[in-house]
Amino acid sequence: MNHALTAENLSIGFAGRQVLEHVTFEVQEGEIFGLLGPSGAGKTTLIKILTGRLFQEDGHARLLGKDTEELGASEYGQIGVMMDDFGLYERMSAYDNLSFYAELYHVPKSRIDDILGRMGLYDARRRAVSKLSKGMRNRLSLARALMNHAKLLFLDEPTSGLDPVTTRDMHAVLTEQKKKGTTIFLTTHNMYEAQSLCDRVALLSGGRIIECGKPADICKKYNYLNRFQITLKNGNVVTLDNNSGSAIPIKEYLEQDAIETIHSTEPTLESVFIELTGKGLHSYE
Ligand SMILES: Nc1ncnc2c1ncn2[C@@H]1O[C@H](COP(=O)(O)OP(=O)(O)OP(=O)(O)O)[C@@H](O)[C@H]1O
Ligand SMILES: [Mg+2]
Repeated sequence: MNHALTAENLSIGFAGRQVLEHVTFEVQEGEIFGLLGPSGAGKTTLIKILTGRLFQEDGHARLLGKDTEELGASEYGQIGVMMDDFGLYERMSAYDNLSFYAELYHVPKSRIDDILGRMGLYDARRRAVSKLSKGMRNRLSLARALMNHAKLLFLDEPTSGLDPVTTRDMHAVLTEQKKKGTTIFLTTHNMYEAQSLCDRVALLSGGRIIECGKPADICKKYNYLNRFQITLKNGNVVTLDNNSGSAIPIKEYLEQDAIETIHSTEPTLESVFIELTGKGLHSYE
């Protein structure tokens, strides 16, 4: 399996404050990799380093096999980047923004209307970016990142502040991209997004990657309780260990048709994160 991205001992600080410390991970070609971490943890900083917009103080990063300190037109032509302060010109219309980008990266302009349509922005194509809502702006930003059939997409909080329907549409677009073989590196505060969309996630906290793996595996690893919680139809809640000793009581409840719900007690990604960092996802500083 080839690596689309590798980070090896990346470190950087600002004004004497260390933000990333020996950050090491790999992203495989074709996977959706989610970077989670509290606000201020360094996620955007990491994307800037990985895309060659900022240089690390220590360590190495490689993108599509090339050192990120040496990226050129060939690599930039193969990546798409969606982040808040990146690449949208406020006074230009949605269409003109994509048209400008198409010229820059030699993408046929015939793609523009198509992409605007898929993002639900066709009717707003003549509107200036400054007059778009946050959701529309996000979708335009994603449209821009998709213009050049990128092999590797960087998405910094692609669904932050979006309504559930727009979020679902965005997820559908990303899943479609993955099916086409695109590698996606995204950051998110949305645990549902991380759990349902990402093949693997990394938890960034205190400048380090403190956990990395498949969301389900991470939840299993922290499943100390390893129990079933059973809510009975009479309203009682029973907790049983997940071992053979519980087989008889569970069989009896089933025979009596007494079970309303039954759940295993593995934690959610969010509760693992809170346990590991001691902080909520929205407060770091
Ligand atoms: N250019 C800069 N100069 C000084 N400090 C910076 C700079 N860029 C980032 N920082 C600091 O580095 C830390 C990490 O910022 P970063 O934007 O990477 O966090 P983040 O994880 O993306 O947070 P959020 O979830 O809020 O987007 C913050 O303390 C931020 O203030
Ligand atoms: Mg950020």
